[in-house]
Amino acid sequence: MDAASNLIQAGYIVAAVLFVLGLKGLSKPRTAVRGNALGATGMLVAVAVTLTDNKILSYWQLALGLVLGAAIGTLLATRVQMTGMPELVALFNGLGGIASVLVVGASFLEVRDLGSEPTTTFTLAAAATGLIGAVTFSGSLIAFGKLRETIGSFGFAGVRVLNGLLFGAGVALGLSMLGAPTSLVLIVAIVVIGLVLGVSGVIPIGGADMPVVIALLNSLSGLAASATGFALGNSLLIIAGSLVGASGLVLTQIMCVAMNRTLAHVLFSEAPTAASAADADDVYAGKVTSTNADEVALLLDTATRVAIVPGYGLAVAQAQHAVRDLTRVLEQNGCEVVFGIHPVAGRMPGHMNVLLAEAEIGYEQLVEMDAINPTFAQTDLTIVLGANDVVNPVARDDPDSPIAGMPILDVDKSRTVVVIKRSLSPGFAGIPNPLFAADNTLMLFGDGKRAVVDIVQAFAEL
Ligand code: TAP
Repeated sequence: MDAASNLIQAGYIVAAVLFVLGLKGLSKPRTAVRGNALGATGMLVAVAVTLTDNKILSYWQLALGLVLGAAIGTLLATRVQMTGMPELVALFNGLGGIASVLVVGASFLEVRDLGSEPTTTFTLAAAATGLIGAVTFSGSLIAFGKLRETIGSFGFAGVRVLNGLLFGAGVALGLSMLGAPTSLVLIVAIVVIGLVLGVSGVIPIGGADMPVVIALLNSLSGLAASATGFALGNSLLIIAGSLVGASGLVLTQIMCVAMNRTLAHVLFSEAPTAASAADADDVYAGKVTSTNADEVALLLDTATRVAIVPGYGLAVAQAQHAVRDLTRVLEQNGCEVVFGIHPVAGRMPGHMNVLLAEAEIGYEQLVEMDAINPTFAQTDLTIVLGANDVVNPVARDDPDSPIAGMPILDVDKSRTVVVIKRSLSPGFAGIPNPLFAADNTLMLFGDGKRAVVDIVQAFAEL
């Protein structure tokens, strides 16, 4: 090895160490910002070192790609609303998958044109990248559509069998490449199978199970990058891809536990049908009690313990600062205020934690589901702010419900529940919520931020 390649390898090791330290930092909210900076520095080192690689023949093409990519990325990142972040992340996963496919594809064509005999590692890694990268790309596009709620869940009889067959065919074609390592037909067939499998694999998955799928696609994008690293003989790509793959798998497992599902159940059980959810009219007709900000302020004035349960609507309304103001005035009135955080509230892992941290609500006030659930019975008032599925008692009480078995925040056990949302529309899972018609529930209809601001004002005027 000459001095230049020694330097490149040393740079890769520095980048890899920074990635690991970055991940470690991201495991706790207090060190997350530093972790992010370390990870980004690692990526800068990785890019800089890669650019010194003497295999690069044309810098102007790279510069063009860099400028174009940076322009599109900057535009997307500055334009996207906070509520659109989960979709953007889904899109990034998909782009990671397709980038791996394109890089390996270019390398495959190069090997083929040169007429050289590819190694077994290259062949198997190229086939794995083709399959995993293509699944990640098309699956992420479907996940993007589902998060935007432009694509619903639909399956057809036998879709799971079809998926099994597609997966089997992809693996079989990959192995058969060992006999024909430069076959363009085989590699293209593998990518096409991957693209179809991504669509047919994600589309039947029910709304509430999407967190698991998103985490899994994230992991797959890492595995595709890692396989690309094997094909190119690039150690940093192997390490970085494995880190993403492994952390994505850990996240998938956390999401499975949070949803009380096994991965097999999410991937292989039939999609819920509309018939399995109760009719909204039957659930709500004549049973919903509305309230207003003045009434809620009166209830809060006498409460000694209040729980606030945020959901996706908090993000839509951007109500986190108003909620902080409400918390402060209640605390000044001698009331204990805690936040109940469901692991899949919102549309991405940690969504509520990020929003509440932005409003400088202390981490110690955020109580996880298992810890807060036994305390609802001693809670005078629970304010459900833009949450729906994560507080839907049918998940606990109705074994036939599409979200049956998903752990929920037992807010219905509080003495009084105030639900703030704009209408009786369902949440992401698309099913009615009997909580809104319960005897101890009052509905405060309106935008989340406006409603909380009104409550704070009414409280001040008492
Ligand atoms: P959802 O069940 O989706 O309910 C959110 C509620 O917010 C809606 O019913 C909506 O009712 C209300 N809302 C929307 N805009 C509002 C506004 N401006 N002001 C007040 N309320 C507003 O949310 P959740 O309870 O947080 O549950 C999350 C769901 O998303 C679960 O099904 C979960 O599986 C799924 N999911 C989660 C993730 C992750 S990783 N967190 C990823 C993908 C999917 P109105 O329209 O009537 O206002």
